[in-house]
Amino acid sequence: MLGSKRFDPVRIGVIGTGNMGAQHARNLALGVMGAQLVALADPDETRARQLAEELGVPHVFADWRALLDRDDVDAVVIAAPSPTRAEMVPAAAQAGKDIFCEKPAAVDAATARRIARLVKEQGVVYQMGFMRRFDPSYARARQRIDEGAIGEPVLVRVSSREEAPRPTQFVPRATGMFVESSIHDFDLARWLMGDEVVRVYAQGRHVYPQFNAPDDVDVVTATLTFARGGMGLHDNHRYSGYGYHIQTEVLGTEGVLQIGYAHHDACVLLKRGQQSSDYVVDWLDRFRDAYRIELQHFVDCVRTGTPPAIGLEDGIRALEIAEAALESIKTGLPADVKRGDVL
Ligand SMILES: NC(=O)c1ccc[n+]([C@@H]2O[C@H](COP(=O)([O-])OP(=O)(O)OC[C@H]3O[C@@H](n4cnc5c(N)ncnc54)[C@H](O)[C@@H]3O)[C@@H](O)[C@H]2O)c1
Repeated sequence: MLGSKRFDPVRIGVIGTGNMGAQHARNLALGVMGAQLVALADPDETRARQLAEELGVPHVFADWRALLDRDDVDAVVIAAPSPTRAEMVPAAAQAGKDIFCEKPAAVDAATARRIARLVKEQGVVYQMGFMRRFDPSYARARQRIDEGAIGEPVLVRVSSREEAPRPTQFVPRATGMFVESSIHDFDLARWLMGDEVVRVYAQGRHVYPQFNAPDDVDVVTATLTFARGGMGLHDNHRYSGYGYHIQTEVLGTEGVLQIGYAHHDACVLLKRGQQSSDYVVDWLDRFRDAYRIELQHFVDCVRTGTPPAIGLEDGIRALEIAEAALESIKTGLPADVKRGDVL
């Protein structure tokens, strides 16, 4: 709860035990101080039970409501598919649980605003899962900007490429790229520029037959205009074929910051006419530290009763940019970002 301190470990339940939920559960069980993983919930009970066995978690539920009913769960990590947010997050807040919620905050900004009102009424801690901000390189970049190392930020370039497809059953058609994936880039853009996006011009193409429907898009670009005149360039590809490639650059009046790397180590193989090295495979690989650090931040906030560095407003602002991008793709014209009141 906001405003109340505690010294005992925070007892946490993880809802959704797929790719992301399993990663969070392992971090909570093994890598986050002050946390105690006590319950898991997933309609795929077999998956949840396997994870519980691996980590020694005492309680497993097929229905997330049963997890919320328990008095020995203080906080929840929500890593179920995005459409479940509308019901799950308000119910968790009403049950008095502090909440860490995966991105996006909801499938649209209007729902996220409604969630924000209910969460605020209950006074629980809420943290949004924009883990890139906790990545040591991104955190240092933001610190350098705050120190004035590059002068006034003028342009941000944010590029995201997935190595290969992942299950897309929960990705709603056409909203998938911007709402599920570029949402990270939109958050980074506004955070690094220290400004809000007011206009978006987006383009998209359906390139890879393995994704969704032919009228959906899997390669997108977005040009961003910030309130103080700053500019942004974003591109996102659902398939690179070579690795997970996240690259960001912030150009300022007195310097440039480049953030991102492709290789984990400095081992390079040289053979006749060839040079090769490792390549980061996926997000769990690239942002391993960030996923642990963001949860440590959440647990620290719950124990001290303080608001986390990333809240629902950040989730809503990123969704508003995503919605403007979708509108722009539909009309073929730049679209204004429709900012609503958060609370
Ligand atoms: N922060 C990041 O970098 C990042 C990366 C990947 C996914 N995500 C987000 O995490 C969420 C989950 O993605 P994922 O890749 O783990 O998906 P996934 O398909 O691997 O796992 C989702 C899990 O949720 C379970 N589930 C479905 N309905 C549920 C319900 N009503 N209650 C409880 N569990 C339910 C499914 O059975 C499955 O085990 C999505 O919102 C996604 O956007 C974030």
